[in-house]
This record gives sequence, structure tokens and C-alpha cells, in this order.
Amino acid sequence: MGNLHAGILGTGHAYPAGILTNAELEKTVETSDEWITTRTGIKQRRKAAPGEYTSMFAVRAARQAIERAKLDPLEIDLLLCATVTPDQILPSTGCIIQAELGANKAAAMDIVAACSGFLYGLTLADSMIRTGQSRYVLVIGAEILTQYVDYTDRGTCILFGDGAGAAVLGPVEADKGILAARIRSDGRYLEQLFSPGGGTRRPASAATLAAGDHYFKMRGNELFKVAVRSMSEISNEVLEEAGQKAEDISLFIPHQANQRITDAVASKLKVEEARVYSNIAMHGNTSSASIPIALDECVEAGRVKEGDLVLMASFGGGVTWGGVLVRW
Ligand code: COA
Repeated sequence: MGNLHAGILGTGHAYPAGILTNAELEKTVETSDEWITTRTGIKQRRKAAPGEYTSMFAVRAARQAIERAKLDPLEIDLLLCATVTPDQILPSTGCIIQAELGANKAAAMDIVAACSGFLYGLTLADSMIRTGQSRYVLVIGAEILTQYVDYTDRGTCILFGDGAGAAVLGPVEADKGILAARIRSDGRYLEQLFSPGGGTRRPASAATLAAGDHYFKMRGNELFKVAVRSMSEISNEVLEEAGQKAEDISLFIPHQANQRITDAVASKLKVEEARVYSNIAMHGNTSSASIPIALDECVEAGRVKEGDLVLMASFGGGVTWGGVLVRW
């Protein structure tokens, strides 16, 4: 493995044009803009229109990332699409994206790790590049969550939005790129966020549809605590592994789930607001797409410069969590 590192060579993001505001939700479910804003920080989220599907946005984000990495799609040798809302059961959304991009020399597959999917992808890409198994890896996080949201359940329908983000990774000089990456899960907490219907355990039927078994079910309160604990712990672990301190972080990009979760994690890590990125007000929670969308927004806004230390941390259904530390 030597000192070879995997660096982020290009990023991109895309989302549907449709916007669902708190004011619109007020009309359909018993909630208020004031409640949503103070409890979550969310003001609006993107919502796909009928006929729009996950890979559409994934392909747009991926094309941008490949272009900015100055690569040809044929140079990508591994394509990882993190999603819990695939286009269809078979084939993988990764293979669908591969065909659209013309990335015909890649091995393509999906990663199912909910909101941690993108960091799972970065971690796998890092290993594959450092071992020489792959040279250029495309990691995508893409979701149309609004199709799995029960718009009569005010506990979940206010949170989720749609979109996609992507990053191309490749070998870089040894003092740059991913310095430490860790992923974890604990399936004992699977009922904190899950969708029970539509698989082999409860195959889709008129009865499962009527019962709303295909919708996301969530224990928000419990998940909140797990989120704060797991993201803080794994952030400290990757910092320690790389021999870095929280005060060295230029930018902290947490999974965008709830502004109060972000604030609690940042406060535990002692990273003040100016070094924390938040776009929750505009996008809500886009699961695996949240970190790559945020990362690309930071790149576009010039908030990440060469030499910067960028920390990313996530948690999600499974439960899963992860932390990745990058020297830009
Ligand atoms: N509008 C108005 N009231 C609402 C509401 C809404 N949209 N959703 C819930 N409430 C009510 C509840 O019914 C409850 O009423 P009660 O006290 O009469 O029983 C009250 O508000 C408090 O509910 P609670 O669930 O304790 O609120 P909370 O402060 O924990 O906020 C979440 C709820 C979902 C916003 C919060 O728990 C959260 O963000 N959890 C993490 C979820 C998450 O990130 N999931 C994705 C994982 S990647």
C-alpha cells in the first residue's frame, strides 16, 4: 500500500426543480413552519416530479464530477452508487448510471447504507485505490426519498428531500487525500428507521400498499441521540487516527439531518459555527446525497482550498455511521 493516498479529484451535484416548502406542508399535515424551523432548521426540500427517478440526478451529478476531474468516463474502473431508493430492484442503479455515462470499463454496484452510504463509498474507494485494485473510482449518493415518505405522518414527512451528489477519486500525493476513513453499523437498532414492505419478507401486495408498509417508519427521538453520539465518536476516531485535532479542521461537513443534531455534534467536537457547513434549510435530509451535495456546494463556493482539512461524518438507518478526514 505504501504511502499512496486516494484524493477527491472532482465533485458534482444535481436535484429536481420542484420545491416543497414548509408553508405547503402546513396545508396537508398538522404542522407549522415555526415548529419545523425550530425543531429541524428545514425551510424547504427538493421534490421530484412524477416521471423523475433516482439515476436521472445521479447521472447529472456524476457527469459534472467526471468533467471536473478532467477524466473520460472510460477511465472510471469502479462505480459505487449509494442509495436506498434505487430506480428498480434489478439491475443496480449503479449499472443503470454506468450505461448512461458510457463508463463501460467500470465495475458498478450499489451500496445500501442509508445516510452513511456516501462515506461507505469513499471508504471503499480509498481502500481500492490504495491497494491498486482501482485507479479512478466514481462515488455517488442519490435519492428520491419523497416517494417513500408518508405525507400523513408529520414525524417524517417534514424531513426528507431529493437529490444527488458525486465525487471522483484517484491517486494523489501522499500528504493529500483521505487521511483516515471509518465506517460502522449496528443492526440491533434497525427499527429506528426502516421500510418494512416490498421485499421478500413482506412482498408488495395490495395489503402492504394499503397498510403503507413501503413508507419509512422512524423513531426520531431515539435516532437523534444515536446520531449525536455516533457522529461525535467516529469524528474523534478519524482525527486521532490521522494525528489531527478538531482545532485543525478547516471545514466540518456533517450529514444534514437536523440542524440541532449538527449543532450538538459540532459543540461536542468544539468546532464553532463558522467552520461547520449547513444547507439543511434548503435541502432537508437527502440521505446518501446529503454529504456529496454539501461538499460540492462548498467546492463551488470556494470554501475548500488546497491544504484544507475537511471532516465529514454521517449516521443513518441500519443504523450506520461513518467518518472521513480529507486533506484537500
Ligand atoms: N409538527 C408539529 N408537531 C410535531 C411534528 C410536526 N411536524 N412532528 C412531531 N410533532 C409533535 C409530536 O407529536 C410531539 O407531540 P407530543 O409532545 O404531544 O407527543 C412533539 O411534537 C415532540 O415530538 P418529538 O418527536 O419529541 O420531537 P423532537 O424534538 O424529537 O423532533 C424530530 C422530532 C423527528 C425532528 C427529531 O427527533 C429528529 O430530527 N430526529 C432525528 C431524525 C433523523 O435525523 N432521521 C433521519 C436519520 S438519517
